[in-house]
Amino acid sequence: MKISFIGYGNLAKAIAKSLQQEKNHQLFAASPSLKAEMNADGVTTNPDNKAIISKANLIILAVKPSQAKDVLKEIALDFPSDSLLVSVVAGVPLSFLAEYCRIDQAIVRTMPNIAIAVGKGAIPLIANARVTEEHKQWAENLFQHAGLTHWTDQEEEMNAFTALSGSGLAYVFLFMEAMVAAAQKLGLSKEVATQFSLQTLDGALTLAKTTPVEIAQLRAQVTSPAGTTAAALYVFKEHNFEKLISEAMEAAHKRAEELGKVKIP
Ligand SMILES: NC(=O)c1ccc[n+]([C@@H]2O[C@H](COP(=O)([O-])OP(=O)(O)OC[C@H]3O[C@@H](n4cnc5c(N)ncnc54)[C@H](OP(=O)(O)O)[C@@H]3O)[C@@H](O)[C@H]2O)c1
Repeated sequence: MKISFIGYGNLAKAIAKSLQQEKNHQLFAASPSLKAEMNADGVTTNPDNKAIISKANLIILAVKPSQAKDVLKEIALDFPSDSLLVSVVAGVPLSFLAEYCRIDQAIVRTMPNIAIAVGKGAIPLIANARVTEEHKQWAENLFQHAGLTHWTDQEEEMNAFTALSGSGLAYVFLFMEAMVAAAQKLGLSKEVATQFSLQTLDGALTLAKTTPVEIAQLRAQVTSPAGTTAAALYVFKEHNFEKLISEAMEAAHKRAEELGKVKIP
């Protein structure tokens, strides 16, 4: 399969890395700063977008939202018939993408997070009406080493996914930073506090994934009445932790809606 990346920044490189485990793909990438060559990872690069799209099966649009319109105007009418356009561009709806393409262009919009680089991405997908079952299979193959995929047919859900998994890595990093800082205040070194925070999160995650009970039940199991954990959870409750998370995710959701409505230049 010939896969062409238009825009080859952080996200495109993470997808390309996950694809390199597959030997049956030919990878191409274009962006203004690339040279016409085959790079050390076996990706054929070019500064000219048009030079890499002929005969492409999958074209991955991975430019910034503000660049999407100009890039689509430049190349979208030249996409091979039967190709699949996969857009990772945040906030840009299917209807916007379709405006610059042939009427029969198959398009998938997705919102992966950068954990795809380690095979742990969370990847919601939505297809337009031109996408066939075979195209869907291509899109799933594209992300098969990248993490969890999920198809939706409600485009407004993409904003909920953006608030959950798109922005979610940062929430967890913030929580870890706060745990490390608090442990340092309690006398541990930064290095040891970081190792123990990571291990605790890893343990919690593995337990949550492998124990067939609700997460709330796991929390109850590790919280003895009047014990140390109960004392800590009481403080979270006093400060309305759940409301805080809910408000933060609502803010991310609202911002995603705003970005989707902004007239992209
Ligand atoms: N990073 C994430 O975690 C993440 C997650 C989900 C979605 N996204 C979305 O993915 C897209 C890319 O994000 P990113 O973080 O990878 O950004 P990035 O690292 O800034 O990459 C943008 C790429 O676009 C290229 N580009 C600029 N103008 C171009 C043009 N006219 N034609 C072709 N390529 C052009 C840039 O090339 P030069 O360097 O040569 O200028 C660069 O390779 C964005 O729309 C973002 O919303 C990102």
